[in-house]
Amino acid sequence: MHKPAVVVSDDITLTDASRVLDANKVGAAAVLDGEHRLVGMVSERDLLRSVGHGIDPSSTRVSEVMTRDPIALHTTDRVATALEMFRDHRFRHLPVLDGDRVAGILSIRHVVRVAHIEEVQPAGSAPVGLAPRGLEGVAVAETAVGDVRGEEGFFHYRGHNAVELARRCSFEQVWHLLVEGTLPDDAQLAAFTERTVAARRLPADVVDLLGRVAVLPNYAPLAALRTAVSFTASALGFEATLDLSADQVRTDCMRLAALVPVLLMRLHRHHQGLPTVDPDPDLGYAASFLQMLTGERPAPRAARALEQYLILTMDHGFNSSTFTARVITSTGSDVGSALTGAIGALAGPLHGGAPSRALAMLDAIGSPDRAADYLRAEIGAGQRLMGFGHRVYKTDDPRSTLLREVATELGGEQVEFARHVEGTALEVLAELKPGRRLYTNVEFYAGVVMNSVGIPRDMFTPTFACSRTVGWTAAIAEQAANNRLIRPSALYVGPQPPQALPDGYGAATRFEQ
Ligand code: ACO
Repeated sequence: MHKPAVVVSDDITLTDASRVLDANKVGAAAVLDGEHRLVGMVSERDLLRSVGHGIDPSSTRVSEVMTRDPIALHTTDRVATALEMFRDHRFRHLPVLDGDRVAGILSIRHVVRVAHIEEVQPAGSAPVGLAPRGLEGVAVAETAVGDVRGEEGFFHYRGHNAVELARRCSFEQVWHLLVEGTLPDDAQLAAFTERTVAARRLPADVVDLLGRVAVLPNYAPLAALRTAVSFTASALGFEATLDLSADQVRTDCMRLAALVPVLLMRLHRHHQGLPTVDPDPDLGYAASFLQMLTGERPAPRAARALEQYLILTMDHGFNSSTFTARVITSTGSDVGSALTGAIGALAGPLHGGAPSRALAMLDAIGSPDRAADYLRAEIGAGQRLMGFGHRVYKTDDPRSTLLREVATELGGEQVEFARHVEGTALEVLAELKPGRRLYTNVEFYAGVVMNSVGIPRDMFTPTFACSRTVGWTAAIAEQAANNRLIRPSALYVGPQPPQALPDGYGAATRFEQ
C-alpha cells in the first residue's frame, strides 16, 4: 500500500485536492474531518468527473464529491480480502486502517502486482493461479486508453468524459485523442484528417477480392468484413508488430481503421448488385460512411447523429474484443491479425452481435397499446427485455442517455414509439424485477438511431465494428509499445496423469513406412 496515506481535509476545494494528489503522485486521498476521522475517499477520477459535469473546482468542497463512509481495510487483512473488496465494490483505492488511524491507501494496482489471482496448489503439482471465471473483476493490464465506471454511469477516453466528447467533437478529433493520446489543435487535426483521407485508398488486389466475397452463398456482412480485413492486411504487406517501430505500428493501425468502412460499404453495394461508391475526400468519416452506403450526400443531421453514435462506441474499457486484440498483439503478430481476431470476438451475441434485437422487440410489440402486455408476458416467460440491463452499469448507461437525445432530435414515429416502450419497460422491470437495477442500455437507442439514418439492420454490428476499430487500434499500439506475451495457465482438472494405455491398444495400427 501507499504509506503514509495521503490525506486531505473535507473542507478544501477540488482545486486544492487536485494539487495534493499531483504533488504526491497518487490517484486518491483519504478525506478526514476536523477531528481527523476518516469520512471519505476522493480520487482523481472523482475530480475529473465533477469537472466533466460542469462543477466549478475552485469553489466546490471535497465533501461534496467524495465517496462517503468508504469501506476500509485493516492492516491485518489478507491480500485476498482486499482483492475481493475491489472485485465486489469496483473501487480503485481503499483506505487501510490501523485501529482508527488511516495507515495507508491500497490501490488495485498494488494488489494486481502481488496477487491478483488466488494461489491454488494441488499436492505435488506446480503452482497455478486460478482467476475467477470470465476474469470478472481481474485487472490483467494497465491501460491509458480509457475506462468504464459502472457504478457511476461514466466512461472516458484518456480521461475525457466520452459523452462530452460525443456531444462536442468530431469523429476525427476523438480518433486522434484515442490513437495519438491528445485532443488535436487545428493544425494537428488538419494533418491527421488528411492522413485518414489518404489512407482510405483501396489496394487494387483487394478490389477484385471484395467483388467475389460479396456474392458468396451465405454472405453475411460481418463475416465478409472480417475476411476483407485479413486479406487487406496481407495485400498491404503488414509485418509482425514485433519487428516494427511504434510509429510503424500506428501507421498500419491508421491504414486499416480508415479502410474498414470502405471495405464494408463496397462489400454491401456489391452484394446488393449496386455500383460501388468511392469515399469522397471532402467528407469526414461519418458523412463518408453514409455516402458510400447510399451513393448520396447525407443530410448533415443524419451524418452528425451517426457520428455521435460512432464516437460513443469507439471504446469501452477492457472488453472482450479489445482483450482479444491485445492477446494477439502480445504474440508480436501483425495489426491485421489482431483486428481480424477482434472482429471475431465482437461477432458473438454476448458482445456486439445483438444490436438489432432491441429493434426486433419493437417490431414484435407493434403498437403502443400492446407494450405493457407484451413486456409483462416476456418477463413472465423468463425472457430478457432487449436493450435493458448491463453487467457493468448499475445505473443509467451514459451511452443510452445521449442516444435517446440523438434519436429524439432525429424524430419520427419509431422514436416516439421507442420512448413509449422504454418508459413502459422500465415500469414493468421495476415492478416485476425489483431491486435488480435494470436500466436502458446502449442497444435500445443504437438500433433506433442507425435505422433512422438509413443503415440496414444486418449492418448494425459491422457499423459498430468500424467505430470500435479505433479503440482496438489504440489498444494494439499500446500493447505493442510495452509488450509482454500474454500467456496464462489453466488449472488441469482431468484424469490424474500418467494414464496407462489399455493393454494391446494400438497393436493393430498400421503406420506409413
Ligand atoms: N430483462 C429482464 N430481466 C433482466 C434483464 C432484462 N433485460 N437483464 C437482467 N435481468 C434480470 C435477470 O433475469 C435476473 O433476475 P433474477 O434475479 O430474477 O434471476 C437479474 O436481472 C440479474 O441478471 P443477471 O443475469 O445477473 O445480469 P447480467 O449482469 O448477467 O446481465 C445482460 C447483463 C446480459 C446485459 C442482461 O441484462 C441482458 O440479457 N439484457 C438483455 C440483452 C441486451 O440488452 N444486451 C445488450 C447489452 S449492452 C452491450 O452488451 C453492449
